[in-house]
This record gives sequence, C-alpha cells and structure tokens, in this order.
Amino acid sequence: MGVEVSAAPASGASAAPTTLGEDWWRRGVVYQIYPRSFADTDGNGVGDLPGIIRHLVHLGPDGLGVDAIWLSPIYPSPGLDVGYDVIDHGAVDPLLGTEQDFDHLVEGCHERGIRVILDLVMNHTSDRHPWFIDSRQSRDGAHADWYIWRDPAGLDANGRPVPPNNWVSWFGGGAWEYEPKRGQFYHHTFLKEQPELDWRNPAVEAAQFAMVRGWLERGVDGFRLDTFNVFLKDRDMRSNPRRRGRTAWTRQVHLHDFDQPELAALIGRFRSILDKKRGRMSVGELFVGTTEGAAALTVDGHLVFDWELITRPWSATAFRGAILRRERAFGDNRWPTIVLSNHDQPRHASRLAASIGDGPGVQDAIAKAAAIMSLTMRGTPFLYYGEELGSGDVAVPPDESIDEPARHVTPDFPWWDRSQSRTPMPWSGEPGAGFSTGRPWLRLAPDVAARNVAAESADPDSVLSCYRRMLSVRRRYRSLQDGEIALLRSIGDPTVLGYRRTGEGPEALVLIAFGPGSAVVSVPEPERGRAWRPVVGTHLDLPESLAPGTPVTLRPYEAVVSVASRS
Ligand code: NOJ
Repeated sequence: MGVEVSAAPASGASAAPTTLGEDWWRRGVVYQIYPRSFADTDGNGVGDLPGIIRHLVHLGPDGLGVDAIWLSPIYPSPGLDVGYDVIDHGAVDPLLGTEQDFDHLVEGCHERGIRVILDLVMNHTSDRHPWFIDSRQSRDGAHADWYIWRDPAGLDANGRPVPPNNWVSWFGGGAWEYEPKRGQFYHHTFLKEQPELDWRNPAVEAAQFAMVRGWLERGVDGFRLDTFNVFLKDRDMRSNPRRRGRTAWTRQVHLHDFDQPELAALIGRFRSILDKKRGRMSVGELFVGTTEGAAALTVDGHLVFDWELITRPWSATAFRGAILRRERAFGDNRWPTIVLSNHDQPRHASRLAASIGDGPGVQDAIAKAAAIMSLTMRGTPFLYYGEELGSGDVAVPPDESIDEPARHVTPDFPWWDRSQSRTPMPWSGEPGAGFSTGRPWLRLAPDVAARNVAAESADPDSVLSCYRRMLSVRRRYRSLQDGEIALLRSIGDPTVLGYRRTGEGPEALVLIAFGPGSAVVSVPEPERGRAWRPVVGTHLDLPESLAPGTPVTLRPYEAVVSVASRS
C-alpha cells in the first residue's frame, strides 16, 4: 500500500465542463435535489432556487462534477405532499423562487455542463388546481371529465353512497372520495387532496404535453415522470381480486389500478415530443413493481427506476444477486438506473450500516464502499443530495414531521415517515449548518457540526472526498460509464463482490469488500500485455498493483477500482 491519491479537486483554475454527448443520460451521473432542503437564501427556513444557484460549484466540474440535476417538484403547491400536489405544472412555486430564478438556474447549470431534469407529476394534481376546482363543481363544466369520476355502486344500509370499486389508496384508506355536488366519487391513488387525472381523455394528454413542450422550450433537458405506470387504469374500473396480506394494500392483486397495456403507447407519444430535440431524456418512476416490469417499460432515452438495489442489505451475496437479476431483466439492449436512496426511502448510509447491526460506527466506511459500487455498476447512477456526505436518516419527532401519510398510520397502513430522509443539506459548521439563517423547515441532522460540505472538503479521507475522486475517475474511463459488466465468479472470498467493466478504452476491475475483517482474494488476468493498475478506492493509499496469482488483501469495507494498463 503506498500510492497517495489527491482527495479534493484542484483548487485555483476552474475545471472545464465535460459535456457528454447526446447519450449523456446513459453515460453520466444524475444528482437529485430536494429543493426545500438544499439551501435557503431568504431566511424563511425553506430551500429555494437561488440556493441551488449559490451551490452550483459543489455540483459542477470544480466539485462533484455531476452531469445532471433532477429537481424534485418546483411548481406551486399547497405542499401537503411536499410539492407532489401541484396547482400549476407550468410555473415556479413563489416559495422556491421566481420564473427568472429558474431561467438563471438552467443557464448556470448549462454553463457548467450540467443538464436539468424536472420532476413531472402528471398522474394527479392538487385538489386546489383550477382544473379540479372546476371539475368538482358540476358534471358539465369545461373540465368535468378531466378527472376520474364514477357513480356510486349504490347506497349502504345507512343510505351512504358506496364507492365504485374496492381500490385502496397507497397513502392509506380507500381510493375514492365522494363529491356531493356531482353525486359522484373521484379517484385518488395518493392523498384525497391529490385527485387522479383521466389520461384516457385526449384533452388531458394534450394539456399535459403542451406543458412538457413549454419546459423543453425553456431549456429543460429531461424529465422524471412521477409514478408513470399509474397514469392509466382499467377502462371498466373493475375491482381488484383479493388475496391474503398484512395490509389493506397487500390484500389486493393490483390488476386493474395501474400497469395497463396501453401504457407503452402513451410513453411512445410522450417520447416523440422529446425526440424532436436532441439528447432529451426521461426517467419513469415505477410505482410498486418488479425489476422485470421496469425493464419492460424501458426504451431508448426513457429509463425506468427499478428498486432492486434500494432494499438490499449490506452483503456481497445480496448485491451479487441484485446485479444478476437486473442484468437478466435488462439484458444488453436496455439501460438500467442505479438508485440506493431517494426522497421516499431511508438514506442508504444509515440503512446499510443498520442492516449489519453496526449503526453509526461503520456508516462512513460503508458509505464510501457503496459510493464506489454505485458509480461503477452498469447503469446511470442517481445520487440523492447529502449521500455524498455519508448522511443518514434523522429521527424526526412526530410533531415536527412533514409527511402527511405518517399522520394516518393504522395496523392496516404501516408507514415509514419520509421526513427522516429529507432533512436540510449541511454546508458548514455555522449555526443553521449554512443551510438557512432562519428556522429550518425540518430539523437538521444531529451530526451537522462535523458532517458538512466544508468540513468534508477539508478532509481528504472523508466520504465527500471519496465521491469526488470516484466521480473524477469515472469521467476518465469510458468503460466505467457505458461498458458491459461481468461478475467475477470465484475470487476466493464470498464477502467480496467483484466485477469487470469492458467497453471503449481500458477495461476496469472493481473489488468491494463487504466484511468487517480483512479479505484475501485473487484477481483475474487482464487482457494480454496489460496489468491491473489501481486508480481509486475507499482508502487513500491504494495497492501499487493487483497481480493475478498473487493474493490481494482488502481491508474492512475497502473498495478498489483498477484499470488494465499497458505493462
Ligand atoms: C411518488 C413520489 O416520489 C412521492 O414522493 C409522492 O408522494 C408520490 N409519488 C405521489 O405523488
């Protein structure tokens, strides 16, 4: 062990933006920003667009060097589902900034070679959206049939209207709400304040697609489609078959409330708008579904999140299994995504550490090894703000929680409070962690004094420095971006995950030790005339070389990436 690796980006001159080509969505790295939690510039405790502009250096070529940012919803919203309940899909929420701020943000990103991906919540609106306000008034207004309205199935013994079918809401309770003015129920998969649009009505599709064109005109490079496989429901609104299950949701076979056969054609029509411009991508959020289901809906330019990696415990066997299943499902022609955390799920640094019962003691070590893994696997990595610091979930007391479904927990509806993974980004050790001079909308993590961007930038051995090193190496080697992946079968220790990436340029070899003790492995031969040269890893001192036939010792939670160099 001996070669020192520089930890932080070179100071002084700005690095030039590396703008990948039209296939940036396949080769690049996306960074998810939860705008309310990124940086607050007006002191109201809520992050805003100027806050993102202020911190573009952290994201651009002088910092992490990501290729795109995905902004969780930025549209006007009453905020009951924290932005996923929209009242105008074509505008910026004044809470987050002005229209001009948005245009400056796009400009600032593009100057740094960063693309901008917006979160499109097109399945439903807020019940305060003008379309719905109109729709619920009567059965013959301009928007009367823009939402999913159905007559009651009858009256119950007390004379109350009975919902049209047995569907339940993902956020607990039934999926139908009665509107006396129309004498009908409307459907909602999520909160009752998030009525479902009727995508079988061509006027809805036309309005939504016009909005999409508008954002493209403003320079947006791509979209994340919120719960896109729910857009269409069974034409006849049949009840779902029942089965055994622990919760109201799992007691149904969800045959009729999402994943309908006409979805692929709808995605095709959406894609044809994006395809009129070069290099515009989309990524669909698969709402409850399998990896195979995600793969089936993936087309060129349109990625689909699968949830294979986001639930696995910290074990080489578990991740080997996940990679195998994903590779089988996606095959050579479909491109997967890599997601370990997002705004709906526990943060992976604390989740993975807890999965081996070790808690905060190993959180940083695991965060670094997981970073190497997620940035070298086959697929487009989506990083979640704060993961580059090794941040973990924060225990938010119920009276401070801002996650509506968490208020309605029953034995039939268990819920993980999502506030825990949405807390403010810590930028410095100052009061308010450099996030806000006011009272943050959600409490700060208890460890922000040490776990913040400034402190970690100054420490070559921090999680952040590890991310920066890894991202910079990834940019250098094409095989790590869009090469094929081949898992190594037997390398001598089952607690080590190993794989090769082959594509344009030198081949790469990745080794990740999952265990708390040292692991001894043997590495495969590189191609003829080449030797494995370690280029980045979790630890600052890398092995000089990895020679096939000579045992290689990895330290606890050590990950090393090597490339095949001419010997
Ligand atoms: C999926 C989003 O990721 C989640 O945050 C939101 O609550 C639901 N869609 C409803 O919009």
